[in-house]
Amino acid sequence: MIYGVFSDVHANYDALRTVLKHLHSFRPEGYLCCGDLVGYGPQPNECVELCFALPNFKCVIGNHDMSVLDRLPVAWFNSSAAEAIAFTIKTLSPKARSLLETMPLSLDFGDITLVHGSPRNPAEEYLLTGEQFLENADFWKTQVCFVGHSHVPLAMSRAGEKFPEITALRHGEKILLEPRTRYIFNPGSVGQPRDRNNRASCGIFDTEARTFEIFRLEYKVQKTQELMRRRGLSELLIERLGNGW
Ligand SMILES: [Fe+2]
Repeated sequence: MIYGVFSDVHANYDALRTVLKHLHSFRPEGYLCCGDLVGYGPQPNECVELCFALPNFKCVIGNHDMSVLDRLPVAWFNSSAAEAIAFTIKTLSPKARSLLETMPLSLDFGDITLVHGSPRNPAEEYLLTGEQFLENADFWKTQVCFVGHSHVPLAMSRAGEKFPEITALRHGEKILLEPRTRYIFNPGSVGQPRDRNNRASCGIFDTEARTFEIFRLEYKVQKTQELMRRRGLSELLIERLGNGW
């Protein structure tokens, strides 16, 4: 089965459409999303509705989604993120809100687990190190776990009892899954990349070929920035979208 994999859309509709157009060319039978459909960006309703119209769409809830639904205190966030959450609460349609409410904290099916932050703390932990991989090892059971939250595309792997390896993933990089090895993949962020590369990030997971491949795609960053400005979102958020940080 071929899955389109993405995360951290953050209400960036133009980036989302660019990503979905690319993923669609692989004829995926399903889509996996690690949360944060909203927050930061200007078009939450459009993003939520487009995602939920995808075939076989599986998505877990992210910390921004939770805060919009009043399930995580807004005090958790810095001031510009908190302002964007207030904007999202004000803007969100009843339909989009009810779709967000269906998203669970974690999902596992077949050989795949989905969480936003980490298996042991889906809402909050940024999973970035080998030590964290080990500390999380007993909190998920499948061979592959997809995470988001850090907005950095990463492959983390642990062969047998060895110390985990961590690889930053670049455009076109394809990981071939080995037996007796567990993987945590982060597909990066669609709507607010943070690895000094402003291109939207996504991946393709092929369960038969046992591969995960990452893609970075140019989209109209300035168009999203102009819309953010018109909707009164913070200059800091607008600027970081251009810098990819
Ligand atoms: Fe995020």
